[in-house]
Amino acid sequence: MPTLASPSQMPDQTGRTVVVTGANSGIGRAAASAFAARGARVVLAVRDRDRGRAAAAAMDGAVEVRPLDLASLTSIRSFASGIDGTVDVLVNNAGTMTDTLRHTAAGFELQLGVNHLGHFALTNLLLDRITGRVVTATSTAHRSARIDFDDLQWEKRQYRPFGAYGQSKLANLLFTAELQRRLTAAGSRVVATSAHPGWASTGFRITSGNRLLDALAAFATPVLAHGPEGGALPTLLAATGDVPAGSLAGPSRFGGVRGPAAATEPTAGANDPDTAGRLWQVSEELTGIRFPLTSSAA
Ligand SMILES: NC(=O)c1ccc[n+]([C@@H]2O[C@H](COP(=O)([O-])OP(=O)(O)OC[C@H]3O[C@@H](n4cnc5c(N)ncnc54)[C@H](OP(=O)(O)O)[C@@H]3O)[C@@H](O)[C@H]2O)c1
Repeated sequence: MPTLASPSQMPDQTGRTVVVTGANSGIGRAAASAFAARGARVVLAVRDRDRGRAAAAAMDGAVEVRPLDLASLTSIRSFASGIDGTVDVLVNNAGTMTDTLRHTAAGFELQLGVNHLGHFALTNLLLDRITGRVVTATSTAHRSARIDFDDLQWEKRQYRPFGAYGQSKLANLLFTAELQRRLTAAGSRVVATSAHPGWASTGFRITSGNRLLDALAAFATPVLAHGPEGGALPTLLAATGDVPAGSLAGPSRFGGVRGPAAATEPTAGANDPDTAGRLWQVSEELTGIRFPLTSSAA
């Protein structure tokens, strides 16, 4: 199985175009920087242009900044329509965690809306121009999560921040599984993969709703976690390595918390075709955006 211990082990990316969401900070910034350093043209898809420009200024290579707010379907459509030419790799990296019930412009619960539905919409709007891979960031939080189709948006239950985050990160994996199934059915050579960073010290703050737990996590993260460059290795492996379609990459040491990137196993539930198909259908209904390719069997 392929592994990646350093961005310098990535194949040369000259002539390729890579779009990275949430590329102004943390893992997205580290991944974008690595792609640019290896010769790719990189589009930093960010919700704050100034932070995006500041990140771009620190990168070597062909880097451009474009606005994208994944909490707005209008912004997602505008971003997608502004992309000229083909995209070799789309990295669905951006993510949010919030301790209170908040909503996107369309009224989706924010974590599901940004982490899953925003990337669902973006991917399908760009798919006819993507030629290589779609890499989606997930988390080990998917392991204890479930998709509650009866209350996807937390309208009936008391809001549980970590439950909502886990649901969105499980949705990232189910999305990858169903996207790959549909790409295969359509005869497409595009491949869907996913990556989790383990535990990375970034701008990301754990807001579980439990103040003690959150304070402990804030204290322990800079000590125990790897940096954003280490957290980006699974993304880089999933984007460029010789990994199977639909696979998940993650850190290979300390129980998957840090270390070189390698293929790793999601839970069985994260590959369940019925759940993945149902989530896809619901996501199409919610966003009004559909899989754009026609099945070659049709
Ligand atoms: N760090 C970890 O240990 C860890 C563990 C498991 C999974 N992850 C996943 O890794 C991914 C990257 O996170 P990170 O650790 O690098 O955290 P980060 O430094 O906080 O980066 C998150 C990025 O997402 C962007 N973002 C948030 N909401 C957005 C929106 N509505 N539209 C567009 N962009 C938005 C942020 O932009 P702003 O700067 O404008 O807020 C930021 O660039 C996330 O998907 C996260 O769930 C991280």
